[in-house]
Amino acid sequence: MIILGIETSCDETAASVVADGRKILSHVIATSQDMHAKTGGIIPENAAREQVKSIIPVIQEALSTAGLAPNILGSIPSPDIDAIAVTVGPGLIGSLLVGVETAKTLAALWDKPLIPVNHLVAHIYANWLEPVILSYAKDLDSSATPQNDIPVLPAIALVVSGGHTDLVLLKSHGDMKKIGGTRDDAAGEAFDKTARLLDLPYPGGPSIGIAAARFKGEKQIAKLPRSLIAEDNYDFSFSGLKTHIAREAAKYRDLTEVQDAFAWEVQEAITDVLVAKALKAVKEFNTPTLLLAGGVAANSRLREKFQLEIRNSPLEIDFRVAPPWLCTDNASYIAACAEFNSKALSWQEVAANPSLTIIDSQ
Ligand code: KG4
Ligand code: ZN
Repeated sequence: MIILGIETSCDETAASVVADGRKILSHVIATSQDMHAKTGGIIPENAAREQVKSIIPVIQEALSTAGLAPNILGSIPSPDIDAIAVTVGPGLIGSLLVGVETAKTLAALWDKPLIPVNHLVAHIYANWLEPVILSYAKDLDSSATPQNDIPVLPAIALVVSGGHTDLVLLKSHGDMKKIGGTRDDAAGEAFDKTARLLDLPYPGGPSIGIAAARFKGEKQIAKLPRSLIAEDNYDFSFSGLKTHIAREAAKYRDLTEVQDAFAWEVQEAITDVLVAKALKAVKEFNTPTLLLAGGVAANSRLREKFQLEIRNSPLEIDFRVAPPWLCTDNASYIAACAEFNSKALSWQEVAANPSLTIIDSQ
């Protein structure tokens, strides 16, 4: 199928055209991140206003780049697509409504099926897009050879985003069981909140990654807790990191002296737990595949740690993680997810749901 994907759950307005759930024909993203950097975080109303400004030009560009329709507002009847897929949740209600209502209008206008997509499940499908990278058997850097075969199921999938941290067993398309998740802050949220305490710019994840990469071991600082790492479950807890960082950072008059050291330690603390719990799940459920997904999957230390741990263990795991630009929010994985989990509805049946969870659509 040729699917037009639309994603507006947070501060990105994105549209992509994807063929057969794998081949990206166009990939367009407008982001209001610079605006949120000025306020140190997202103000939902501002994000929604930016979505309204960007949605039509972004869809129009995605269609025209894919050679499908030069002008969606003109007299051209309907573009040559088989369906429209749209993120219905979870996310910010104002932002979600812009994408959902636009998708419904276009589906009605063009008489196309509309496929509602769960944003969290969709992140996993970045690993179906070409190119994906088979990591651990290859080089550790981003020049790893693109792997074009599809992941073998069942798989353990770790979805780490700004608002969610979920560990799931993906048995087959549409058949998923949640085996663990965070009890409090999500991994991305922990990056964002500790970055703010360290005076590092929004969004915190990439800022911490950059500061941590500068750290060469010159400052000794307190070790942060690896919460729940040794517990026999698949739960995570990251909220304690804020308290520890606030207390430790208060001991320094000039934070710039220790910013990089703390960034390194925060990154180590978060990634140690994520890697330990995901590998424990792979062992217990004996899956051939491990899929890493969500914005935090763009973190190079996390990617590297998985690769190193797997390489140094007797486990035979096909570890997959998409290139960083496909891990953070975009519409290509929305279209890919729709292809493999197609539940086309008429536009009247589709509604935004900001509090959707990863297993709601199962
Ligand atoms: O999946 P995503 O793009 O949006 C949501 O669905 O939430 O994830 C955003 C999260 C933010 O918390 C951001 O700080 C984090 O992903 N993130 C990273 C990196 N890039 C984005 N965290 C660590 N390292 C990165 N390079
Ligand atoms: Zn996301």
